[in-house]
Amino acid sequence: MSSSRQKQDKGRLRLGVNIDHVATVRNARGGAYPDPLRAALLAEKAGADGITAHLREDRRHITDTDIDALMAQLTVPLNFEMAATAEMQAIALRHRPHAVCIVPEKREERTTEGGLEVAREENRIAHFIAPLRDAGCRVSIFIAADEAQIRSAARIGAPVVELHTGAYCDAHAEGRFDARDAELERLRVMSALAHSLGLEVHAGHGLTYDTVTPIAQFPEVRELNIGHFLIGESIFVGLPAAIAEMRRFMDAARG
Ligand code: PXP
Repeated sequence: MSSSRQKQDKGRLRLGVNIDHVATVRNARGGAYPDPLRAALLAEKAGADGITAHLREDRRHITDTDIDALMAQLTVPLNFEMAATAEMQAIALRHRPHAVCIVPEKREERTTEGGLEVAREENRIAHFIAPLRDAGCRVSIFIAADEAQIRSAARIGAPVVELHTGAYCDAHAEGRFDARDAELERLRVMSALAHSLGLEVHAGHGLTYDTVTPIAQFPEVRELNIGHFLIGESIFVGLPAAIAEMRRFMDAARG
């Protein structure tokens, strides 16, 4: 990234665009089209501050070859999402992406359903992230907005936490507005707690134009990672327009 762009980005809410579901569409036919790299380069041009890709154990969307291509050609940072397994750690250490986000992974889930259980596995996760940090990767831990998880993440020396916004977004989509507001309040309080403990705060999962504003208004949040909605919306308006509109909501929320 150019130093002028880095300067301009200081303090601005960053948007990481997750391109997993371009690969989902490609893999539905087993061919090479549409190409996630092409989407990533287009997203980059449209103002994405980073590209996020999740290499799942079962390779259901992003593949090893996609990661090779992203690492070779992106000019914005790659946020490499992965489970805390030896295989993924070896891949991350080989590539040394700008950022690594540790997520829980279950084969039977449709998407990343909950946050990582770092509180119960503090020792294992601490040992797992140490070599990634030593390799220069900015490690983030994807967790629920829960005090015990946040305190654990701080104790093990994770520099970043990404708070799972899925429960908030689901409650909104299902019209359970009391539950939505309670989730939002929990996210607000936990963002502040994480920040007070010295953690950089990111957020993501399930965000749309309808749900992004209150999250973008939390002053502690530095980055949002958004995928499924943007890729879906791009069917109707194109990826650059979908990203520009999301950027507009984020900037308006920040005032
Ligand atoms: N952040 C993390 C850690 C994720 O696992 C995902 C989904 O892969 C996202 C953000 C993006 O979620 P969505 O695709 O629902 O916008």
